[in-house]
Amino acid sequence: MDDEIIVKNARFIKLKTIADGIDGTITVAENFKHIPFEIKRVYYIYNLGNQKAARGKHAHKKLEQALFCINGRCEIGLDDGENQQAVILDTPDSGLYLGIELWHTMKEFSDNCILLVLASDVYNESDYIRSYDDFTDYIGKKK
Ligand code: TYD
Repeated sequence: MDDEIIVKNARFIKLKTIADGIDGTITVAENFKHIPFEIKRVYYIYNLGNQKAARGKHAHKKLEQALFCINGRCEIGLDDGENQQAVILDTPDSGLYLGIELWHTMKEFSDNCILLVLASDVYNESDYIRSYDDFTDYIGKKK
């Protein structure tokens, strides 16, 4: 994982982890404690064996999410309209808070990658900004 997040509305999240030796490990995420919003939806992305697989390529107006690569690795490209960076997720106990108005792209998945996403609301297509031009217009108008 990268040392520092430079884009707006994103930060790393460290979850509570209890290592039980030969009996494995528990990692826990609680509303408002580790996750800075109330979780209303959980989804996960897998079957990512194709090297060209790429997801995301959109931003959200209101939705907040937390991303955890609970198996394997992947890269999250982040763009707040001014700064861009790529973040590697490769540990189940550390993830990424993905706030509003962040253009994001998920790619470079390992074959075994499972990306767990916790979201602050149910699915709502009208919250998506799916064109990069619309994204820059949207954040430009709010300045
Ligand atoms: P999308 O959010 O664009 O996926 P990703 O960010 O992983 O690339 O969603 C892809 C499709 O799946 C789109 O048609 C909407 C649908 N979908 C739902 O119906 N419910 C959901 O909770 C999510 C995340 C997606």
